[in-house]
Amino acid sequence: MTIILGLESSCDETAAALVSADGRILAHRLATQEEAHRPYGGVVPEIAARAHVEALAPLIEAALADADMTLADVDVIAATAGPGLIGGVMVGLVTGKALAHAAGKPLVAVNHLEGHALSPRLADQSLQFPYLLLLVSGGHCQLLHVKGPGDYARLATTIDDAAGEAFDKTAKLLGLGYPGGPRVEKAAASGNPKAVPLPRPLVGTAEPHFSFAGLKSAVMRAVQSGQYSTEDIAASFQQAVIDCLIDRTRKALERSEGVTALVVAGGVAANQPIRAALEKLAAAHDLPFVAPPLWLCTDNAAMIAWAGAERYAAGLVDDLTFPARPRWPL
Ligand code: KG4
Ligand code: ZN
Repeated sequence: MTIILGLESSCDETAAALVSADGRILAHRLATQEEAHRPYGGVVPEIAARAHVEALAPLIEAALADADMTLADVDVIAATAGPGLIGGVMVGLVTGKALAHAAGKPLVAVNHLEGHALSPRLADQSLQFPYLLLLVSGGHCQLLHVKGPGDYARLATTIDDAAGEAFDKTAKLLGLGYPGGPRVEKAAASGNPKAVPLPRPLVGTAEPHFSFAGLKSAVMRAVQSGQYSTEDIAASFQQAVIDCLIDRTRKALERSEGVTALVVAGGVAANQPIRAALEKLAAAHDLPFVAPPLWLCTDNAAMIAWAGAERYAAGLVDDLTFPARPRWPL
């Protein structure tokens, strides 16, 4: 059985994982840099790159030990090659290249977004191509037809902020701190989603694109008005995001004949009310709804190893000269 070592270092998580080609997760290790970035209220690229350098090698050793393996047992090295913060991406990619070269193993350079996009198939082996994917993370908000490894058609993207970015900025405005998404979700749980009138940008328009910048400005005005509680603003904001995601995804479903499922991936997919709303939408279209478990939604190396497995099985391997690509659309 082919064993893939996956490496992830594109943002503020350093991670190493071992996955088998039949979808068993043999080990997954992760070090978050949350504490290091918290004082700044967001990810500081230089701090991130240094922290990846310190964390990565011990994580690889720990993952190998967890699986009772050595590098000799690994068949393929998969490393995130972008998109992301260039310093961090370089750390994981160069480490992956060095291991591949030293051990004489093939390298698969993985697009981080493809890691998210294929992660639902690691969680649910019965999920077949093609599926409609809502990819919602800190840097991206897209609707994609996923037809196979390396084979994507983008139906829509955001014209300004990503959904996770909107969560993070709202958290900052509300003084909830970093990382924002889970904190806004928690505050929203005890708030009234109808308390604050907020816009639903682009809802009802023909193309299923997203926009969240106007929503963020409206949240800022609501905060400044002093009229509303933190919980009510959080709940109203979250509801506005849900309404946008659902309307846009419904539009995309109308153009998705033949898809096997509605799938959500990326960090924002960890949000329970968002998952619940998407599940309802899928049911209304007689489609199964697939979402990876929470830990597989946010950044991790198991999804990178799995994307490596899928690409390797499709004959897609990369040269050791493959460059780090800070910007790299799917
Ligand atoms: O995929 P991810 O871990 O990193 C990127 O590739 O961007 O996504 C991180 C994003 C952050 O913006 C974070 O605030 C958001 O996902 N997020 C959430 C939740 N957990 C993480 N947003 C809403 N609700 C959550 N529970
Ligand atoms: Zn991500």
